[in-house]
Amino acid sequence: MSEGKIFVIDDELVMCELLRDLLQERGFEVSYVTNPLEGIEKIKKEDFDVIVTDLKMPQIDGISLIKEIFSFLPDAIIVVITGYPSFETVQTALKMGAYNYIAKPFNIDEVSFIMKKAVAFRYLNIANKKLIKDINEHNEKLEEKVKERTAELGLIYKITQDITSTLKLDETLTVIIERITSTLRIEMCSILLLDNKTQELTIKASKGLTEDIIKNTRIKMGEKISGWVLKNKQDVLVEDIEKDPLFAKRNQEKYYTHSFISIPLIIKDKPIGVLNVNNKISKEPFNENDFRFLKGISQSISIAIENAQLYTSLENTYLNTVSALTSAIDIKDHYTHSHSEHVTKYALAIAKEIGLPEQEICYIKQACQLHDLGKIGINDTILSKTTKLTEKEWEEIKKHPLKSVDILKPLDFLKEVITLVEQHHERYDGKGYPYGLKGEEIKIGARIIAVADSFDAMTTERPYRKALSLQEAIEEIKRNKGTQFDPNIVDVFLKIVPKLINYD
Ligand SMILES: [Fe+2]
Repeated sequence: MSEGKIFVIDDELVMCELLRDLLQERGFEVSYVTNPLEGIEKIKKEDFDVIVTDLKMPQIDGISLIKEIFSFLPDAIIVVITGYPSFETVQTALKMGAYNYIAKPFNIDEVSFIMKKAVAFRYLNIANKKLIKDINEHNEKLEEKVKERTAELGLIYKITQDITSTLKLDETLTVIIERITSTLRIEMCSILLLDNKTQELTIKASKGLTEDIIKNTRIKMGEKISGWVLKNKQDVLVEDIEKDPLFAKRNQEKYYTHSFISIPLIIKDKPIGVLNVNNKISKEPFNENDFRFLKGISQSISIAIENAQLYTSLENTYLNTVSALTSAIDIKDHYTHSHSEHVTKYALAIAKEIGLPEQEICYIKQACQLHDLGKIGINDTILSKTTKLTEKEWEEIKKHPLKSVDILKPLDFLKEVITLVEQHHERYDGKGYPYGLKGEEIKIGARIIAVADSFDAMTTERPYRKALSLQEAIEEIKRNKGTQFDPNIVDVFLKIVPKLINYD
């Protein structure tokens, strides 16, 4: 094996041959040229470990030659030969980057030693450069990865904030589905929650699934893919379901899945549901990054769902309590115990006939149950008085909407409901109370409740008067159309009232 590949440039042929013979004997592979210009061309084409060059040649001076070589081969290992101790030139050559020099006359051991060192230096240099390049590449990759992960974490943080920004379960689930679908660009996404009574998974929110699937999917623990994931509390990333021995058979859903990720939603070691994502729009299979992202947000999803469920249950408990209280107030105010129930029935029928949004109807329902809550703070003697109320007593009665508001105010989730309760005695012509709001200034829900409430009040016996007949009450509503009541709502009410009055 060669000790190294040496290229000699010297205008004296004797010197070239001498160096060749001596170095070949020591195991080097040597070639030479006597014309430095020819040498430059050769260096451009062939790889040498060390270039040995004379400094004094007629065609080109040594310094210019070195400059030229470095211009196209900056890593060249150049050893200069100096015929006589012209240190100034040697020093310039070394300053320019030449590796070493040999002085004539030669000591062959010394020349061989310098060549060996030069060759070793070159390989060390090459290894060093490669190492630096590798380190730089590695660092770049690392930096890229850090950037990627930082972006990923940022996204996870942002989504976590979004999904925990609401306590309403439906809204929470909708936000989750929306964020996942837009981030991963997928065809289908669904959240199935476990029904504690039936122990079945049902689809609570989804994208890309048909109404039929959403309505009819019931998966028992251990069944299909979602049931398996829930039972085993194990995440699944499948790139191609057809090739997956465990899940190919379980893929019996009525929609076609080729790649999917399924993650169990777990709270305190208890599975509460499953998050499924199926098929990227790009048709690429899901990868580790997608999986890591979903895993990253799955804990927050579970917590958000649990919070929303707890909140809903708290809301229901609260509403049930208040509803019981309201029934008590109905009786205290000498209505039938069903007054609030009847008001709710009329008001909802009107709201539905008008085509109000589901959410608005829900607010109206709650407001109907709570509207007279403030009467709890009104003296019984006033409420049960059989003779005409004095002005002062009447003023006291008129405080009940605001008393209701005072009781309900701390409950943030009832904000919209409270406004309806507050306005249920406002009149369309602005002569109502507590604020004397007019027409559209009064929320539509409150305008509806006003008709429903008055109609049921008229048909109920009061301490100070007998009940009107249904027909009389309808006439009374008609008579107040456009003054006390919103004319449009009265029209809707008159249209539907025949169907409504067959109650017990
Ligand atoms: Fe009232």
